[in-house]
Amino acid sequence: MNQDQLKQMVGVAARDEVLKLPAGQILGVGTGSTANCFIDALAPHKDHFAGTVSSSNATTERLLKHGFKVLDPNDVQGLPAYVDGADEIDPAGHMIKGGGGALTREKIIASMAKQFICICDSSKQVPVLGNFALPVEIIPLAKGVVSRELEKLGGQVSLRLAKSTRADLKQTPSEPFVTDNGGWILDVAGLKIVNPIQMEAQVNQIAGVITVGLFAKEKANILLVSNAAGVERIAL
Ligand code: 5RP
Repeated sequence: MNQDQLKQMVGVAARDEVLKLPAGQILGVGTGSTANCFIDALAPHKDHFAGTVSSSNATTERLLKHGFKVLDPNDVQGLPAYVDGADEIDPAGHMIKGGGGALTREKIIASMAKQFICICDSSKQVPVLGNFALPVEIIPLAKGVVSRELEKLGGQVSLRLAKSTRADLKQTPSEPFVTDNGGWILDVAGLKIVNPIQMEAQVNQIAGVITVGLFAKEKANILLVSNAAGVERIAL
């Protein structure tokens, strides 16, 4: 079974999980290839929800294409659940996120939700976070000062570049990747994050940081994880 099939399998399991929620509520929806599988699986059942709140422009576009209603987070009081992927997840449910650059809105929507349902394949499960470079969204003019502070934590810092041209943002591969919020992303490699809560608080305090892609306070409550044998549901 390849990784795409594992993502599709967990997307279907997440669909079944959220369809257990009472009808007529609003659902938080994440960003990335696994979240896309979830959106596609849920599309035939979209009327179970009164609407969705989206964590990125890309997700909004996909939700609208399927006919979901997408609401402004400011018009929503709270969410029963938020469903999203992760780049890494540890046994306690702390995650590294932001590989797709949507970490800020993801964290905002996750903070509105009662439950974070993390969906991934088993390659994302790690004993200690940090093998995946930690994404940190910053105000562009703070790149120098924030990079120096992050290096003091023991990481090697690199500015994320646009991987491919995005017509809407006129990005080319040699230019910085620009987030939906106009921020830049520093990827911090070489960290061994033994205390995610402390590290999240520490990076949050650096002036110029918009969001750190460490989801320790907003950790996963339910993990749906796929492997060749099927999908395991873990309550965290
Ligand atoms: C985007 C994210 C994604 O959830 C994370 O990168 C996982 O993506 P994928 O499902 O494509 O592996 O945090 O900002």
